[in-house]
Amino acid sequence: MLRVMTKVALASVFGLCAVMFAKMENVGAQEKKEEKKLTTKQIMGTGHKGAEALFGKIQAAVKAKKLDDAVAPAKDLAANGSLFPKATPPKGDAKSWDDLAGKYAVNTKALADAAEKKDEDAVKKAIATIGGSCKACHDNHRGK
Ligand code: HEC
Repeated sequence: MLRVMTKVALASVFGLCAVMFAKMENVGAQEKKEEKKLTTKQIMGTGHKGAEALFGKIQAAVKAKKLDDAVAPAKDLAANGSLFPKATPPKGDAKSWDDLAGKYAVNTKALADAAEKKDEDAVKKAIATIGGSCKACHDNHRGK
């Protein structure tokens, strides 16, 4: 009888450990996923809120004819841009979001590539394209 009880007790301890390990792995997996997820508000805030935001820094670098200084913020803008389609906007339908956020990802990548190549014309063109894309997306997806 004692033996049986010991076995049962051991079995439940192992069972508990297994459950705990499974949970720990789960948490790890979730944390990894969250690293690659930003809200639309975070992406817009770091990208476009005020002159000190990434897009403002890029424009200032171009104006000062220091394309070197545009490379790092342009890369950050593109990295966030690539996460934009995966974020959920406050309003608007998914098809429109896929389209507009997808274009933002492509346009910010084009800007980063142009900055890296120190191609001033392409940088200016990409800035204009992104600058011309704000309103349509805000009308559809920004909320009130
Ligand atoms: C593909 C869609 C899209 C494009 C393009 C876009 N935005 Fe946004 N923007 C949004 C959405 C969605 C929000 C609302 C974010 C939220 O509150 O979750 C937003 C919010 C903002 C905010 C407020 C951020 C905050 O902290 O509340 C600013 C500033 C902003 N956008 C500037 C711009 C500028 C400037 C451009 C163009 C150069 C631009 N956006 C292009 C979708 C877009």
